[in-house]
Amino acid sequence: MGVSVDKALVDALLKTAPTPERDEPTRDAAAVIPLRKASRTVSDWANVARNEARGAQTLEALAAAIRAFDGSALKATCEQAVVCDGVLGASLMVIGEGPGAEEDRRGLPFVGRAGQLLDKMLAAIGRSRAENVFITNVNYWRPGGNRNPEPDELAVCRPFVDRMIELAQPKLIIAAGGVPAVSLLASKDGIMKLRGNEYAYSTPDGFKVPIIPILHPAYLLRRPQDKSRAWRDLMLIEKRLAELEG
Ligand code: URA
Repeated sequence: MGVSVDKALVDALLKTAPTPERDEPTRDAAAVIPLRKASRTVSDWANVARNEARGAQTLEALAAAIRAFDGSALKATCEQAVVCDGVLGASLMVIGEGPGAEEDRRGLPFVGRAGQLLDKMLAAIGRSRAENVFITNVNYWRPGGNRNPEPDELAVCRPFVDRMIELAQPKLIIAAGGVPAVSLLASKDGIMKLRGNEYAYSTPDGFKVPIIPILHPAYLLRRPQDKSRAWRDLMLIEKRLAELEG
């Protein structure tokens, strides 16, 4: 037996059906996402991040936007967002891969064993996070099991990373390790090829800055025989910073 449909009733319902609600206020067209929260894609979340990042005029506002952001699944399994440390406005900015266990616990980047080695490497060229280095990561939430962040996890953080670079206005960026180097430079090459070379980086909003990738300090702890390579890269960084600082 067929089902009889009251066409007039269907027409009336369609006419009055509410338009989909937006989940949150938006600042520009790029962030208008007529989807329910749970069905947002990575690119939807990257748009939300871009909108939030562009709206942040200070580091404090940007850090608050990162902490409030719900677009990374990693947020559910870690202690807290790890945003940055050091001196905003310093000539040198270090961008690492993301928090490990100690960073997750303390809420600061590079404070575990690898971080202690990074501090020594920076000290060798007269720099420290207390005085003249700004430090952040390409991912703000610790991946469980200390795995590398996935491309999607990096993609949703990227607008925040770019905005942080614009607010920090560094003269030179060190990409510490393969994950930040390959992701920032969108490179097909690995860290062994990229390290010790200078590359031009531009944020989508046009801030330009050179990047020099180096071996990650955690890798150097595992392979101390490669420290001479890291040393050569640090010498290059010291020389380039002196030129860029004039
Ligand atoms: N390794 C990183 O790349 N970043 C941190 O913050 C800590 C360890």
